[in-house]
Amino acid sequence: MLDVEYIDVSYNGAQVLFNVSLFVEKNEFVTLIGSNGSGKSTLLMTISGILKPSKGTITFLGEDITEKSPRDICNMGLIQVPEGRKIFPFMTVKENLELGAYLPKAREQLAKSLENVYELFPVLKERERQMAGTLSGGEQQQLAIGRALMARPKLLMLDEPTLGLAPKIVKELLEKLKVLKQRMSVLLVSQEVYQSLRVSDRTYVLENGRVVLEGESKKLLEEESIKKAYLGI
Ligand SMILES: Nc1ncnc2c1ncn2[C@@H]1O[C@H](COP(=O)(O)OP(=O)(O)OP(=O)(O)O)[C@@H](O)[C@H]1O
Ligand SMILES: [Mg+2]
Repeated sequence: MLDVEYIDVSYNGAQVLFNVSLFVEKNEFVTLIGSNGSGKSTLLMTISGILKPSKGTITFLGEDITEKSPRDICNMGLIQVPEGRKIFPFMTVKENLELGAYLPKAREQLAKSLENVYELFPVLKERERQMAGTLSGGEQQQLAIGRALMARPKLLMLDEPTLGLAPKIVKELLEKLKVLKQRMSVLLVSQEVYQSLRVSDRTYVLENGRVVLEGESKKLLEEESIKKAYLGI
């Protein structure tokens, strides 16, 4: 579904990603981990088309999207949940969700999508008329994901959606992402290494802008280097 091949990415001449390759298959849940500054967000922004690689190609659904605009990439069904829960605080939960269905194709299916989001996140249904800014942190994060789902993604990308949430909420949210992969592919950037590896199919480890390890999440959980560097055991 998504194929990133040998990309280099720089900010004003300072190279941040080196020869990075990664793929995500249909209905696959892939996690991307790595320490602060290793280039995870940069990689997601490059896939979204916001940053352009100086070398390499990105293919989505068999089409070369390396030179496409973020808008065109979005239209193809590659949707990223923005960082920091960028919801509209003075609009209701329902209005925020409706805004997610801005693409013509998604608009046609708005009612059905809304039903699906409410099924996945019942709390949003309960609070549908509440101002989004008054939701708790965990609820706001569900709203941000729900809004991305309204765009009917084929591949959903999330950059640290569990940041700052209580452990119990983190676990619940990651379990929900696992449910989503029945309907789409998921690419998750996460600092919750243990929990993310438990729910995902495959994982990439990024260090200093390079993929240093890749494999089945279950196997990486057993890997000594992962245990030492990320799990504190
Ligand atoms: N707009 C920018 N201009 C210049 N350098 C940048 C810019 N954005 C990020 N960088 C640098 O690129 C490197 C990778 O940053 P990136 O945000 O991709 O890392 P990350 O893995 O997402 O880190 P974190 O876990 O802290 O979110 C860092 O050294 C960062 O300082
Ligand atoms: Mg980041």
